[in-house]
Amino acid sequence: MDDGAGHPEIPDGDGHFGEPVAATYDETSADMFEPGVVGPTVDVLAGLAGGGRALELGIGTGRIALPLAARGVPVHGIDMSRAMVARLRAKPGGDAVGVTIGDFATTRVGGSFSVAYLVFNTIMNLTTQAAQVACFRNAAAHLAPGGCFVIEVMTPELRKLPAGQNVVPWHTSPTRWAFDSYDIATQALRSHYVEVGEGRASYRSIPFRYVWPAELDLMAQLAGLRLRERWDGWTGEPFTSESSRHVSVWERASGAA
Ligand SMILES: C[S@@+](CC[C@H](N)C(=O)[O-])C[C@H]1O[C@@H](n2cnc3c(N)ncnc32)[C@H](O)[C@@H]1O
Repeated sequence: MDDGAGHPEIPDGDGHFGEPVAATYDETSADMFEPGVVGPTVDVLAGLAGGGRALELGIGTGRIALPLAARGVPVHGIDMSRAMVARLRAKPGGDAVGVTIGDFATTRVGGSFSVAYLVFNTIMNLTTQAAQVACFRNAAAHLAPGGCFVIEVMTPELRKLPAGQNVVPWHTSPTRWAFDSYDIATQALRSHYVEVGEGRASYRSIPFRYVWPAELDLMAQLAGLRLRERWDGWTGEPFTSESSRHVSVWERASGAA
């Protein structure tokens, strides 16, 4: 099966993070599991949770949820991939984190939360503007008054595209190549992965929608949220025109019903 443009798609109900991806996710994302990455992320989220609950959209294998729960923050997650969530469940502390299987743009869970968060570029997994707007509305609907929605996402790398070129390579090694292709007219981005093992090459790709900080602020406004912080990273560095990503925090008004 492909997407009509010749790209093979993963045809199971787990979306693009089905069994083959889940089986190697922690290994292929090892850099993101480093204590120097996870620690500051958890510090910020635990601070925003205060004494309340945290909701992770796209909880995956629990990279952030498990250490956050280990800090004493009650965490609930939403994810469409049973294969990813099975990995979370198999880890120490995995049975203490509630997970609802569904689309995080629309799935509701009970109760209200002090903080909802969507990290590691996962807002871009929603491939239409309408779905990204719905996601903001869904996150906002889960927040208690004064609660915060946090997104960590790359800034679109259009400045790396010379005229006439639409591809940005971002990983090369003897066994793995990864590159992104951009469609500037539609804000479609596709990550492509070629892997070589046991004498065979395999190819897969995942579609994304890249999104600018200002567009996210407008989505937040539509959802009744206002920007409270925007940093270059989790330790509060200023966001500048050279930033390759941002961590943004939007707040629901304290007086909101
Ligand atoms: C890049 S992984 C991030 C996982 C985890 N948050 C982390 O930081 O390691 C993206 C996760 O979001 C999930 N996901 C992507 N789109 C989704 C959607 N529309 N609804 C629910 N889950 C989704 C995937 O199944 C996957 O587990």
